[in-house]
Amino acid sequence: MSKKGNGDTATIIDNRTGEKHDFPILTGSAGPDVIDVRKLYAQTGLFTYDPGFKSTASCDSTITFIDGEKGILRHRGYAIEELAEKSNFLEVCYLLLYGDLPNSEQMNEFDGYITYHTLLHEQMYNFFKGFRRDSHPMAIMCGAAGALSAFYHDSTDINDPRCCEVATHRLIAKMPTIASVSYKYSVGQPFVYPRNDLSYSENFLHMMFSTPCEENGVNPVLARAMDRLLILHADHEQNASTSSVRLASSSDANPFACIAAGIASLWGPAHGGANEAVLNMLLEIGTKDRIPEFIKRAKDRNDPFRLMGFGHRVYKNYDPRAKVLKESCDEVLDELGVKNDPLLGLAMELERIALKDDYFIEKKLFPNVDFYSGIIYRAMGIPVSMFTVMFAMARTAGWVAQWKEMIADPTTTIGRPRQLYKGEVQRTYTPIGKR
Ligand code: SDX
Repeated sequence: MSKKGNGDTATIIDNRTGEKHDFPILTGSAGPDVIDVRKLYAQTGLFTYDPGFKSTASCDSTITFIDGEKGILRHRGYAIEELAEKSNFLEVCYLLLYGDLPNSEQMNEFDGYITYHTLLHEQMYNFFKGFRRDSHPMAIMCGAAGALSAFYHDSTDINDPRCCEVATHRLIAKMPTIASVSYKYSVGQPFVYPRNDLSYSENFLHMMFSTPCEENGVNPVLARAMDRLLILHADHEQNASTSSVRLASSSDANPFACIAAGIASLWGPAHGGANEAVLNMLLEIGTKDRIPEFIKRAKDRNDPFRLMGFGHRVYKNYDPRAKVLKESCDEVLDELGVKNDPLLGLAMELERIALKDDYFIEKKLFPNVDFYSGIIYRAMGIPVSMFTVMFAMARTAGWVAQWKEMIADPTTTIGRPRQLYKGEVQRTYTPIGKR
């Protein structure tokens, strides 16, 4: 790699032709430099090849920085540990969207915008009634998010800054309402309307657990724990679902459709669906004496079983969010009088054994954000099928922030990857009678 002052370049030599091609090295404010290969195909006729994008930077961004080796996660320069301890979810939403922490006046104004967008169009409640009662809540979330573009068509014009602003507020504000409705529908209870006198997290717990017969007096410890869970899941650089939102947005699709793409991608058990899979795995393991059996299966290349909640594409150290969640487990379970929840004990024993095992040490597999979150959700009375909905509710903040950053970038162009073609090169059609 040749160093030419600040015009550093990387040189590719094609040993088939001896041709040399220099490509600029771009440097950010933190993290790895990048080789700018935008002109690679034009200059060499070659594509890069990187299925899974393990060595590919898809965009510039100023929102979230992760150092996977050191287990660092920062939003606009603020450490996740500090935000989880000192901030609140709506303030983190503001930080992700606008780049700085708000002053009191800005926070009150933003809080007001979000509060007054929590209601759903009354006609939309009929939309939910079209689903089967036993529909998975994530299926409803996917549908409802996309349907927002039908009910709020007045904020779908991505070329109108005011539309974009209102769309971001509507998405952040309405996700808890949609999430709680998808839960209420599944248990056959009436939908509960949001209240303007409650905080974001209090409102969600109110909509989830109140009924027309009884107001759910929100426990402040649970509301605080919920708020912290939302902060920890708010954004995470260019993960699969955020990349899905960006790719959908690159075709100038409307913001609601782009967020629906993100929800769909998040649902997979390799991504946001892992929190539900972790709980189901712990319930299947059942008791500590069965842990070795599952560790053995996780290490067996011929067994598709993986230790859910372990491993990460970027973190090759302990996920800083998992550390905060593990601490929160104790606080929430203690408050709920279930400190000795056998599932927490099982999870901690599973972690203890795995982190001593050479396989997990060599492959740098540590607990990730999904390992402990479900234990807290379950203790709060949230059903397992709602766990990924919780993730989607929080991640909507990051998705809309990344979407906003992308549509504001004048260099944004439609995302259109190429391929390494390995199929039949050319054949002529033969009539069916001659095949
Ligand atoms: C999230 O990207 C993000 O930022 C995501 C996220 C966010 O906030 O947006 O952080 C949220 O999605 C967290 C991850 C939740 N998923 C899980 O907990 C599912 C279990 N984890 C694995 O499926 C896996 O670790 C991934 C999908 C998370 C990461 O997969 P990679 O980076 O593609 O790594 P890999 O599959 O190539 O694994 C490398 C090796 C393999 O062994 P070898 O082929 O080298 O022999 O590690 C093994 C894997 O078999 N491995 C595991 C394992 N995870 C990886 N073996 C057992 N159990 C596991 N959990």
